[in-house]
Amino acid sequence: MRVLVSGGAGYIGSHTVLKLIASGHDVVVVDDFSNSKPTVVGRLESLSGTHVPVHSFDLTDVDKTERLFAHEQIDAVVHFAGLKAVGESVTKPIEYYRNNIDSTLSLLAAMQRHGVHRLVFSSSATVYGENAPVPYSEDYEHLSSSSPYGQTKVMIERIMTDVAAASDGLRVALLRYFNPVGAHPSGQIGEDPQGIPNNLMPFIAQVAVGRREKLTVFGDDYPTADGTCERDYLHVEDLAAGHVAALEHLDDMVTPVRAFNLGTGTGTSVLAMLKAFERAVGRELPYEVGPRRAGDLAAFWADPSRANDELGWRAVKTIDDMCADTWRWQSANPQGFPDA
Ligand code: NAD
Ligand code: WQD
Repeated sequence: MRVLVSGGAGYIGSHTVLKLIASGHDVVVVDDFSNSKPTVVGRLESLSGTHVPVHSFDLTDVDKTERLFAHEQIDAVVHFAGLKAVGESVTKPIEYYRNNIDSTLSLLAAMQRHGVHRLVFSSSATVYGENAPVPYSEDYEHLSSSSPYGQTKVMIERIMTDVAAASDGLRVALLRYFNPVGAHPSGQIGEDPQGIPNNLMPFIAQVAVGRREKLTVFGDDYPTADGTCERDYLHVEDLAAGHVAALEHLDDMVTPVRAFNLGTGTGTSVLAMLKAFERAVGRELPYEVGPRRAGDLAAFWADPSRANDELGWRAVKTIDDMCADTWRWQSANPQGFPDA
């Protein structure tokens, strides 16, 4: 298939571009580089040995999106593009709703006009809200999220469901990621957050490489084994493979729109993750325990059985793989991707 990857220069998109090419698909990227660097493209080309065509514009622009579909032959879309910082979305809700919803509407309209009926969407475990039983199952129906960011995922899942119901043949896989971490085993591409990292793994990696003084563990008085929060971390390489599996399964899905949890099914605590990273680096890393972070849930992980059974996909990489690959990327690229 010729696959349009929106947000293909970003963290998960870039790893998925490589997996798509390795699986024999052609890729076209659209990204406005609002949260990524153009230098990632050269690395994708050298790692894949293939030219990667890139269209650089903001997908909220309906006319440019339409022109892209008019000029490129596209069989399927994998839609990663969006803003993703939970805390920032609370202070900039208009920006988040506009960017995430409008870019999706532009894409859906262009897909409809040009008869493209395969879509894979980056959703998130955040759609399960605060009350879903653990492990999270796709059968849980009361989707909600406490942040504007998470709410864009709930709304986009609904929009795609409505558009598919009104369409003649649109097939949508809603992929609900748990906590993606890790990097390509080459150490050439990885997560490169701008400013202070919001998420645990890139923060630990920046402590290890000397860019941050110490990790602050957000609370150790949760009702978990060691008192710190537990999450279902999955390797970005497994996650990327999940996109290829979902894409190739779209035409056979039991319903035109189907949600799939992509996770390992296991929770790991903040302190356990820190210890694993110390093993990868070969030394202890400084940390302190601070107050809880507002909005954090104590523990959740996926029931990944639907993706296991229907997509034939399974997360296979370990926590130690995730840490070793993150460290290879971070130590080789202490400041992330170069500007040019
Ligand atoms: P990322 O920020 O690294 O990648 C997103 C890419 O989209 C960036 O390259 C950015 O420049 C681009 N982009 C943003 N808005 C755009 C627009 N209007 N037009 C064109 N390009 C635009 O993020 P990521 O971690 O790779 O996440 C990819 C997707 O997965 C996002 O939708 C995110 O919400 C979702 N997701 C991420 C996580 C996570 O923990 N990383 C978890 C669950 C879901
Ligand atoms: C993990 C654990 C923190 C940083 C977020 C989004 C979610 C999804 C993935 C997109 C928590 C603790 C963290 C630090 C810490 N993204 N922590 N010190 O919160 O599970 O999920 O990213 O959809 O929607 O909410 O991930 O990596 O931020 O935190 O102690 O400096 O690490 O409290 O327990 P989270 P995270």
